[in-house]
Amino acid sequence: MEKKILFPQVGGFVHGGDYNPEQWLDRPDILEEDVRLMKKAGINSMSVGIFSWSVLEPAEGEFHFEWLEEIIDRLYENGIYTVLATPSGARPAWLDEKYPEARRVNRMGMREHHGGRHNHCMSSPVYREKVAVMDRKLAEKFGSHPGVIMYHISNEFSGECYCDHCVKRFRGYLAEKYDHDIEKLNHAWWTTFWSHRYNNFEQIEPPFVHGETSVMGLNLEWKRFTTWNTNDFMKAEAAVLHSVTPHIPVTANLMRMFGGLDYRKMAPDMDVVSWDNYPTFHNDWETLADTAYETAFQHALMRSLKRDVPFMMMESAPGLVNWQKVNKVKRPGIHRLSCLQAVACGSDSVQYFQWRKGRGSYEQFHGAVVDHMGTDDTRIFKEVAEVGELLKRIAPAAGTLVKTKAAMLFDWDNRWAIEDMKALGQETKKYEETCINIWKEFFRLGVDMDIVGSDEDLSPYDVVVAPMLYMLQPGTAANLRAFVERGGQLLATYLLGYVDSEQLCYLGGFPGDGLKELFGIVSEEIDSLYPADRNGIILTDDALRAAGGAMSCGNSRGGSLAGGTTECCGGQAEKKADWAVVEYAEILRVQDAQVLGTYADDFYQGSAAVTCKSHGKGNAYYVAARTGAADMRPLFERMLADAGISVRRLPEGVECHVRSGEEDRYEFYLNWTKEAVSVPGVEGRDIVSGAQITDRLELPAYGVAVVCPL
Ligand code: GLA
Ligand code: ZN
Repeated sequence: MEKKILFPQVGGFVHGGDYNPEQWLDRPDILEEDVRLMKKAGINSMSVGIFSWSVLEPAEGEFHFEWLEEIIDRLYENGIYTVLATPSGARPAWLDEKYPEARRVNRMGMREHHGGRHNHCMSSPVYREKVAVMDRKLAEKFGSHPGVIMYHISNEFSGECYCDHCVKRFRGYLAEKYDHDIEKLNHAWWTTFWSHRYNNFEQIEPPFVHGETSVMGLNLEWKRFTTWNTNDFMKAEAAVLHSVTPHIPVTANLMRMFGGLDYRKMAPDMDVVSWDNYPTFHNDWETLADTAYETAFQHALMRSLKRDVPFMMMESAPGLVNWQKVNKVKRPGIHRLSCLQAVACGSDSVQYFQWRKGRGSYEQFHGAVVDHMGTDDTRIFKEVAEVGELLKRIAPAAGTLVKTKAAMLFDWDNRWAIEDMKALGQETKKYEETCINIWKEFFRLGVDMDIVGSDEDLSPYDVVVAPMLYMLQPGTAANLRAFVERGGQLLATYLLGYVDSEQLCYLGGFPGDGLKELFGIVSEEIDSLYPADRNGIILTDDALRAAGGAMSCGNSRGGSLAGGTTECCGGQAEKKADWAVVEYAEILRVQDAQVLGTYADDFYQGSAAVTCKSHGKGNAYYVAARTGAADMRPLFERMLADAGISVRRLPEGVECHVRSGEEDRYEFYLNWTKEAVSVPGVEGRDIVSGAQITDRLELPAYGVAVVCPL
């Protein structure tokens, strides 16, 4: 595997973050000091200009780039590269005053007042024009500067606008999608229901709070449109930048599993994927290991958006944030772990929000590398400088990639459809949580799964899991069939294939689109359980049973168990069942699949709950009920064994990720526990400590290691 070096100039990992010199232009002493401190912290890149519009263009048509030029020059002279942002994430007052159409209209139909950020209309022609003028000037002025390595477009795209421009574009988007034929739309949206038929596209309105919200097709298309329109805005910015400087890559900073935009649709239009990582460390609802594993899931999601190039961690908090419910400081050592985790998962950067704490306004108490104290002897500064050193030591790993043989299917469309469907328990759908819990369980078995779209190329994978894949995209069923037919191990769960990509139910039994034949089952009913209800699954397959059903009673780490589970340990279900069933149980008709487990209770007691249909070497497993992810472990192990993927269980709280290039391989070990651990089966040289490891890697509390083969 060839290395994909993002920035050859940097010579390793990018280490830097958001820098706001425009807030300190009256303090040249501080700007001077910044550079000294940056060098001391091992910083090699800064992201500038993110919210600088009111300083770059204080009045319409009056541009001031001198200060920025000075900053970029000074950084460069000191070996620090620039990630140059476009300032479209927040608008100056003059712009909103003169062009009110740049301000968003909310779901109530009210135009917002000036203020805040991330709240422009994506459709406004004037706003797009103003942004284009600014972006062109920035690219012309700075694009040939040797210090500028990347463009950072806007900031954390999000939100919707219900203004007239957006409504018009929405209608145009729909007309295009449905071939200008309103009857096609009426059919797809099932509008004859409640007399909702439209006569023409002009009658369609987005889902205003006090308007049409009962047509699932409309709700979903509005979400798809919002992604399309946001991406169109982003593409327009990228096009201007690329037209002046085609050689400079662009990115837009994403926000983990953000619900408002389908990032998979946006990723192809950026050169590099980047994201902002703010885990809630040290919270009171989960272990630190759980927080870490969930973060690993988010990194994997970002990594999988562009699988052949490293991603970037564009932001993270050096100490704490200021917007969580409880803003707890990271304990000593956690910063290093968190930064190294990003790299371990495939990031080629460790970047922060923010370099220096501002004196006033909303983020004055948000963590920063440089505190209000302004010194280099703070705990946080020292921990950042330590990361700077560490990144230098592991620099040869830059450009390598994480490659894995297992994938989880996750679709934003599916997520939106599940959220919106009027079925199941409204509080207990938990699609994202279910995916995360299953992902973590594979991770505990040493498998670092990619997270890909259901219609994406599955040829790199031998194991695929498809939790709650309610909506099938046009290519999904064929994709899954081809995967199993070539010998892949596939696992799907309850809720598979109820609707097509328009949210119309399949007729003739679920799962639709030929998946009944692939799995050999039909799902006839789905039962939703109250928190006090419980059921179980008895494994009828001896080997699975012997492998140990890890019945998740109580608040087990398998998560997703509803209340009342403690009772199951002493109750009826526990005596009979191997796996606990909570929240959902589908009732199946088995056509030609092997039954591996049956329900323990209720009127469907004894009917199939876990099945498998083989197709040559390939297997299609179906788990019809929600169980704890840990319950399913024996099934996961069987799939991995059949796929020839070795299982490696590390102590709880210890992570391992592998990055590799054509000739090199880096095993990253992270110990998120406050105990020292000894990890067997490790050989090579730890390039963090320089130690040779033969068999056992000794990691201190919160320790890290990067082991290369000798
Ligand atoms: C986001 C934004 C930053 C900053 C941080 C604070 O990620 O992009 O501008 O507000 O949050 O955590
Ligand atoms: Zn708008």
